[in-house]
Order: sequence, then structure tokens, then C-alpha cells
Amino acid sequence: MSVRTSAAASIADVVPAVVSGRSAPDADFQLTPSTTIVAAGAAEAAGTYLAEVLRPATGYPLPVVPRESPDGGIVLVLGGADPRVGAAGYQLVVDRRRVVLRAATAAGLFAGVQTLRQLLPATVESRQQQPGPWTVCGGEILDYPRFAHRGAMLDVARHFFTVEEVKRHIDLIAQYKINVLHLHLTDDQGWRLEITSWPRLATHGGGTQVGGGPGGYYTQREYQDLVAYAAARHVTIIPEIDIPGHSNAALSAYAELTCDGEAPPPFTTSGTAVGFSSLCVDNDSTYRFVDDVLEELSALTPGGRVHIGADEADVTPPEGYRKFVHRALAIAAGHGLEVTGWHEVLRADPPPATVVQYWGTSGVDNLVAAATARGTEIVLSPASRAYLDMKYHRGIPIGFKWAGFIDVDEAYNWDPGSFLRDVPESAVLGVEAPLWSETLTSRDDLDFMSFPRLPAIAELGWSPRSTHDRQDFARRLARHGARWTAQGVAFYPSTQIPWPA
Ligand code: ACM
Repeated sequence: MSVRTSAAASIADVVPAVVSGRSAPDADFQLTPSTTIVAAGAAEAAGTYLAEVLRPATGYPLPVVPRESPDGGIVLVLGGADPRVGAAGYQLVVDRRRVVLRAATAAGLFAGVQTLRQLLPATVESRQQQPGPWTVCGGEILDYPRFAHRGAMLDVARHFFTVEEVKRHIDLIAQYKINVLHLHLTDDQGWRLEITSWPRLATHGGGTQVGGGPGGYYTQREYQDLVAYAAARHVTIIPEIDIPGHSNAALSAYAELTCDGEAPPPFTTSGTAVGFSSLCVDNDSTYRFVDDVLEELSALTPGGRVHIGADEADVTPPEGYRKFVHRALAIAAGHGLEVTGWHEVLRADPPPATVVQYWGTSGVDNLVAAATARGTEIVLSPASRAYLDMKYHRGIPIGFKWAGFIDVDEAYNWDPGSFLRDVPESAVLGVEAPLWSETLTSRDDLDFMSFPRLPAIAELGWSPRSTHDRQDFARRLARHGARWTAQGVAFYPSTQIPWPA
């Protein structure tokens, strides 16, 4: 038996918890200067990603090679996994001679690579060379997700975040097997994506933010780079254009989208009012705008799904709202797009193919329950559990408290499969943790609000209900603080977690 130090990682510490795992401490694998990563064909990208993660701290060359040598190594194989892993899971076997990761798809291999990182000491996450030794905990894992949609949402409209900041965020969330990044690209305070047929959306509508700062926007080329970066990490970006409400930035750029023909000034106050703006649902130009925006967006969205918001359209007349939503859905379909909307979209009685994102707090919603009976699928983002912009407690200087304080316990201790009354688990596509940015201005703010709560939501999305155990989760999460420190993540040191001294 090898002696375990407190720095040793274990299968029992992986977040999200694995479906099944067995540690074998006498089967630990040592990374050495001569270790190779064996990955060929469609497995090569996951091998290259793994090598890039491990090289800085180990200082080892870790070449990615197509064939295994007699000395073993880390072997990534597409095919031959236990069929229970499905399309998104993986099987990992670590023994003294080799590490073998098998999956049916590149996404499964990528998920397995994220687990493998966690079987190495936390210092492997440093970008500077560290002393080692580099022991991979021995044993076997069979793992696959509970839900298909494991999302994080980032609001880049209230405050703008740069391409580099969003890429870093993608790398951090992908570690916890998050596979969707919903980008909230437009709101009253800002329009953040270049639309070439309506250029003032970005140049004027993107020119400010909450409190009147400089704002910013992504050119289509930058946005395509982000989408590709996310895709390489098996994260699908779902872009949100929030209409017909939350639209002051667009109205301010184009008077023809308003009913009175007068463009309002940019919304630059430090206040964070919502529900006061609407596209004019009776103007032809409104539908030309929707058509042009969705046409350009469809070319930028290989995932094929967009989010049309449709929340808090408080000043849109109810009949006009229904008409608008149906026309917008038809336009989206015409561009080959699938559509998600916040749960208010059900007031328009959309077809069941429209995915609905629930952001209420009570878990009781008759429209949602009735829609699921007709086949609608739900993404769960209950604000009292999953909103990462809620404060951890009253002493936190950033964030809101309208849906309550959310510490790790509140984020973790609920069940997506039974949260909504009269909604069966089979109607739940997954979970998503939104991070609204009215009060968030820096990369450290994103880190602080996301960690450690985002891993809690990620675990609810990935791990089987049978693994749900708040004490065990807290114990496992405690081991991740050292990883975040090594990565420079400014996490919140929740008093609910038994961090090592
Ligand atoms: C929302 O929080 N308005 C979706």
C-alpha cells in the first residue's frame, strides 16, 4: 500500500460525484518525464487538451502519440467502453502501468479528462512548474450524466466581459462538466453582438453598461472565436437576444423599433430597474429586425439553438406579446433555429418544441406543469437555488438578495427531478446557473459568485440522485479550494465547507 498524504487526490473526492468508482491505492499510476499520452484520430483533441493542462505544472513533455509503447502511458480510446456510459460518459481504469480512458464520443473523453485532472494533486492546476510527485489515484470509474443540459449563464449585457474573460470562464466551468454556456447578449443596458445589417445595435447599443461605463461588444469574428473555443471544450454556446422586453439598448439605437418613433436615451443609471422597455409589436420594422438578427445569429450558432428571452415584458400588451412570440418563433424556425425562452414565454402558448427555462422560486407553476404534459422540456434555474448573482449572505458587498441568500447548502440541497410540482423528471432537460452582472464588474467578481456554488449546480446536473449527500459534497468540495487557488480563482471561502487548515 502506498502512503497517502493529505495532498493525494481520490476518486472519492471527484466533483461532480461519479456514478460508480472504486479506489485501489496499490494501483496508483505515476506520471514521469517519459509518460506519453496515446490518442489517435478523433481522440487526439482530448489528448492534446490533457497534455496542455498537465505540462506547465509537471514540466514533463507528455507527447501525444498515436500508438502505445510497451511502457504504457495515458491511453485515450474511442470505443470499447461499457455501453452504460452512453454518448456523454466515460470509463476510466488506472493501474500501475497505464491509465485507460474509454468513451463512445469525443465529448465523453473530454468529460473523462476532467475527472482525470482531479485524480492528480491540486498543484497540477498551477501554471508554474511544481515539485510533484505526480500520482494518479488508482482504481476504476464508470460515469455518465443524469441530465443532458448542464448550463451556466453569463450576463455580458449589464456589464461587458471581454473575449479573454469569457474564455477563462469557459475553461473553469468545463472542469465541472458544464456543457452549455448561455450568453445573455442583450438587455436594456447593452447590446453586445455585432449585427452587420443593423450596425448601431452594437456601435450605439453596446456603448455603455450599468452605471454608464464604456460597455463593449463582440465583433462577429470575435464571437465566432468564442463559439469555437467553447466547442473545443464541448461547451455549446446558446446566445440570448432578449425580446420583446429588456430591449432599451436596441430601441435606443433604432427609433423605428419604438411605437412613438422616438429613440430613448441609453439606460446608464446605476439603478437596475427591469420591465420598462418593449419593442413595438405593431411595427413591421420590428419583425424585419427580428428576421435580420436571427438570420445573422443562425450563421453564428452551430449549436442551432437560440434563446429569445421573452421575460419581464411588463409593458408589452398581452395580446401583442402573444403575437410577437409566435412571429418570432416562426422567424426562428425559418432560419432553422430551435428556441428556448424564459418561462413567461408560456403565456404565448408556444409549440411544445420551445424549451422553457424556469426561473421562479416556488416550484409551483401551472403553466409550466401544463406545458410539460404536452411535451415541453424544462431547464431549471430556480432563482432561490441557482441564481449565482444572489449574495451568499447579507455581508457580501456584491450581488442581490431578492430571491434570498444562497450559500452552498441552498445551491446544492434540492432535486431538479422533483422541484417543480406536477412536472416529472422525464420533462427536465437539465439545470442552469445564471450569473446576472448588474453588480459584477471584474473577473474576480465572476469567480467569487461562481465558486463554490456553480460546482453544486453542476453536480445536480451530472450526478445520480443516489449520490446526493450534503455532508459528503461539502467534504469533497473542500478539496477543490486548493485547485482554485492554483488556478488563481478568487472563490468565496464559504463557512459551510470544511476547508483544510
Ligand atoms: C430573469 O431573471 N428575468 C430571467
